[in-house]
Amino acid sequence: MSEESLLEVRNLRTYFHTDAGVARAVDDISFSIGAGQCLALVGESGCGKSVTSLSIMRLLQEPPARVAGGEVRFAGRDLLKLEPDEMCKVRGAEISMIFQEPQAALNPVFTIGDQVAEAYLVHHPEARAKDAMDRAVDALRSVGIPDPGRRALDYPHQLSGGMKQRVCIAIALICEPKLLVADEPTTALDVTIQAQILDLLRDMQQKRGLALLLITHDLGIVAEMAERTCVMYAGKIVESAPTSEIFARPLHPYTQGLLRARPEPGSSLRDRRRLAVIPGMVPAATQFKDDCRFRPRCPLAGDLCHEEPKLEAFGGEHRAACWYTRREGIAAWAEPARTGNNQGGADV
Ligand SMILES: Nc1ncnc2c1ncn2[C@@H]1O[C@H](COP(=O)(O)OP(=O)(O)OP(=O)(O)O)[C@@H](O)[C@H]1O
Ligand SMILES: [Mg+2]
Repeated sequence: MSEESLLEVRNLRTYFHTDAGVARAVDDISFSIGAGQCLALVGESGCGKSVTSLSIMRLLQEPPARVAGGEVRFAGRDLLKLEPDEMCKVRGAEISMIFQEPQAALNPVFTIGDQVAEAYLVHHPEARAKDAMDRAVDALRSVGIPDPGRRALDYPHQLSGGMKQRVCIAIALICEPKLLVADEPTTALDVTIQAQILDLLRDMQQKRGLALLLITHDLGIVAEMAERTCVMYAGKIVESAPTSEIFARPLHPYTQGLLRARPEPGSSLRDRRRLAVIPGMVPAATQFKDDCRFRPRCPLAGDLCHEEPKLEAFGGEHRAACWYTRREGIAAWAEPARTGNNQGGADV
């Protein structure tokens, strides 16, 4: 593990054994997050983002899931090798997770105060119930819940969606973990509440030195939040770079496609161009082949793309897995029009 990495995922492979065959949902991915850093994992639905996060947290049901290889090193230990009771001590105390649907994450029959306090008591069984509740109220205050003493007595259904997500963040952070895994934390919320939750996460990151693994398909959120970005496609990381590089010089045709499919801020209704789409769909994970998995959808695909491209560095920390990019080098970053046809495929 490099010295500054808090989390280092190395060659992680998570497969599901299904009646339709083996689904290689996460297939040899590596990335790392430094203390206090925010790394975004982006990609379309079905690319393996959630399976990655659940593998890190060891929350997948085995079987059908099986971690077929790799390491998840956190603060020097391989989490995949921990005994279940040791992993329980890590979960919630050192690494926490928040989910897309705050409603589903909260228990409807307990007050929110009890639920936040319970998260503390699990890791501090010696604490008195009253102290745990005081901490819960403090935690609710720290995530911006007004009148937290009174709100602690409310049940989840008495709170709005944004408030519920704040409660989930309070639960996740009450034991002061070093890493928060946030899987689509704002997708179920309306845009103004989204912005508030993102502000809150950024605030927590800055004040507490919290590291963040942010999973999203929203590139706007990525631009605002993440220092580094990994783009996932069909179980693989196809591009990784500092976020500013991803936006300034997207090297992989998939990343270029994702960026073109994004509305441009500030464009008026009249001059707004039609959004580009990436034709086709992510294949089912049981259908992944050992070629470039983006090939069937790629405007630049050529003969070489029948072999699997490896992630390669293109200057600094910018890495991409694409035969075309390999041939063209950094010049492969393209204006939208250039990747819109089938010119210059990687049939070198
Ligand atoms: N329990 C399971 N059994 C079989 N296949 C699974 C299971 N869970 C996930 N998969 C498959 O793993 C692949 C990756 O799924 P994952 O949920 O990680 O996608 P995702 O990138 O998080 O998508 P989304 O943006 O929709 O949340 C998909 O093809 C999915 O069908
Ligand atoms: Mg998901």
